[in-house]
Amino acid sequence: MMIKMDPRDIERNVIRLIGDDWMLVSAGTETKFNTMTASWGGMGFLWNKPVAFVFIRPQRYTFEFTERYDTLTLSFFDPRYRKALSVCGSHSGRDTDKVALSGLTPWYTPSGNVAFGEATWVLEGRKLYAEMLDPARFVDASLSEKWYASGDFHKMYVVEITDAWKNG
Ligand SMILES: Cc1cc2nc3c(=O)[nH]c(=O)nc-3n(C[C@H](O)[C@H](O)[C@H](O)COP(=O)(O)O)c2cc1C
Repeated sequence: MMIKMDPRDIERNVIRLIGDDWMLVSAGTETKFNTMTASWGGMGFLWNKPVAFVFIRPQRYTFEFTERYDTLTLSFFDPRYRKALSVCGSHSGRDTDKVALSGLTPWYTPSGNVAFGEATWVLEGRKLYAEMLDPARFVDASLSEKWYASGDFHKMYVVEITDAWKNG
């Protein structure tokens, strides 16, 4: 059962939480949504709001959903679900039923956002700012060469964390 919480009470180190443990970024509605694994991003405090940052490449099917909808969710899991996260990070919702393949159970928040019932924590986010990364703005140009050889620059979304949930 998901219990509402204050995002400030997530005590896991954010670098480990996102970079090591990964998360699912999901957007859409009960009838049509998509999810993908992400390990790049962050959390912090901006414009006097708790915020999260996610980076999504335009070729992801999830991108169509993060563009179309104003809200998204981030779901965090314990290591038992690593395999499910690998599945969601190596197949596309364009041609795969990731829910069936991963064995995860969609959970719908009271506001109608989609996350997963097995998650330890779920954050709901409302887009505040979105921008494609710009090759001309890399202060360290080697990053642009290293990560974007084919020009598929991420879009960065800054989302306000509007609600947070923990599995209790
Ligand atoms: C550990 C891991 C981390 C990932 N992190 C990101 C990320 O931060 N941003 C991104 O655009 N893709 C990331 N991906 C790739 C997407 O999860 C992957 O391409 C996925 O299949 C996209 O699914 P979709 O087409 O259904 O959206 C990651 C994949 C893995 C396995």
